[in-house]
Amino acid sequence: MEIRREKTAPDRLRCDLLVVPVRAGVRSAADLDALDRASGDRLLREAKKRRHDIRKRGSVFVYQSHGELPAEQIALVGVGGDAKSEPSKEVWRRLAGQGVDLARRSRCKNVAFSLMQSTNGPAAVGAVVEGVLLAMHPVRTYKSTRGAGELATCTIIGAPATKAVSEAEARSRHLAEATGFARDLINEPAAVVTPAHLGQVAQKMKKELGLAVRVLGKRELTRLKMGAILAVGQGSVNEPRLIELVYTPKRGTRGARRGAIALVGKGITFDSGGLSLKPPGNMEIQKRDMAGGAAVLGAMRAIARLKPNIEVRGYIASAENMPGGNAYRPGDVLTTYSGRTVEVLNTDAEGRLVLADALAWAATGAGSSRPRWMVDVATLTGAVTVALGRTIAGVMGTEPALVEQLIEAGRDAGEPMWELPLVDEYVPAMDSLVADMKNVGDGTAGSIFGGLFLREFVAGVPWAHLDIAAVAYADKAHPYVPRGAVGWGVRSLVGLVERAARR
Ligand code: BES
Ligand code: MN
Ligand code: ZN
Repeated sequence: MEIRREKTAPDRLRCDLLVVPVRAGVRSAADLDALDRASGDRLLREAKKRRHDIRKRGSVFVYQSHGELPAEQIALVGVGGDAKSEPSKEVWRRLAGQGVDLARRSRCKNVAFSLMQSTNGPAAVGAVVEGVLLAMHPVRTYKSTRGAGELATCTIIGAPATKAVSEAEARSRHLAEATGFARDLINEPAAVVTPAHLGQVAQKMKKELGLAVRVLGKRELTRLKMGAILAVGQGSVNEPRLIELVYTPKRGTRGARRGAIALVGKGITFDSGGLSLKPPGNMEIQKRDMAGGAAVLGAMRAIARLKPNIEVRGYIASAENMPGGNAYRPGDVLTTYSGRTVEVLNTDAEGRLVLADALAWAATGAGSSRPRWMVDVATLTGAVTVALGRTIAGVMGTEPALVEQLIEAGRDAGEPMWELPLVDEYVPAMDSLVADMKNVGDGTAGSIFGGLFLREFVAGVPWAHLDIAAVAYADKAHPYVPRGAVGWGVRSLVGLVERAARR
């Protein structure tokens, strides 16, 4: 699909569907007035006749023009707000998603959005482009029949043609591409997306995007004594990988001296639970257990293109958690990369194990300097769904400023997060008779125990943990997120990196 910006007036624009946002407190709007006039006052009269409050937030009024306008249909969409405050980026994204949805339903080929009512061109254009592309991203399927034809063009009118608008649009395109890339990896079956496959995907990014990429296989992991990631992977014929991607800003700049940010993703390509086997209903969804790793890969893609002035290192701890004949067992004691020993009580608490090695490795700087900040992203606990539901991710961390920046970046991206406490009093519940600690808590506060376990491996580096188990996958479609993998976290992580680069 092609997205373009034009200067055409709303009442002159030829398209199948023109989406016009209506702000609650704005009495007279140039686009609405022009369209109403051109329709011979029929547009607003019709809405009134149908008793339609077009200013109500969320209301959608679709008007069929009968040749009096070059646009075949007009959709008036209530976006709320008042005369003074501009709608948020999330409101624009949702408007874009709604527009795509309306267009699809009436089999339109050419959709348009009027942004004449926006006073912040870059934010509005960026968000609409993001929303349209995210809503349009097709799920790759193995269906033997093809779907219906798709939208061909999306035209944005009423936005100023400034450099800032172009930059916002370009940023949104990169973010949407990277999010779609993450979604595709998550939606793909685990028979295709193995740890080795993720390694190959990273290698391809080295060629395409000029990132430095290193993929550690079983031999290197053994040499480095990464006992946790090796143990989790040993029950599968698909051997584990620790993937590293590094983006370096221009040499000699302030950004190059600023200290790196490390992003660490859980890349369990399939989580059967291992010998602590999951019941079928819980297992059928576990190809998505590499969503954190996919978010890091996606973020690194966008970062390589957006070139923020700060070093960023991405790590994906990837293994397949299977109950094969050589599988690790409950009761086994692992020696992690940090030297700390862990007694495995539940082989299904595998995410924290692979992340323990990856975080400890990232904290040392993986052979280079220690990072300034670390953030891990993981589908870590089912308990986070109980705590926060399906729209909010859990966040924990050792550094209030980092947690705050992350939550802010999430708000900006439309990916809400809520902080859970790392309760020191709970730590003794992870005491083990035979090792430094065990890999589960006492059956309460599941998500917090996940965070507390990981904290043991960050070696003093300011760190935050994102539990995305509940949000990584959408069982039903949202305004700009189709059913399936969300690509959750890509845009927040990039936003966080951009913030850090600006400080
Ligand atoms: N991958 C799961 C968490 C998960 C559950 C992700 C549902 C997506 C949807 C994780 O590895 C896991 O099994 N966690 C256990 C931890 C427990 C054994 C301490 C859980 O949440 O039950
Ligand atoms: Mn598990
Ligand atoms: Zn898991």
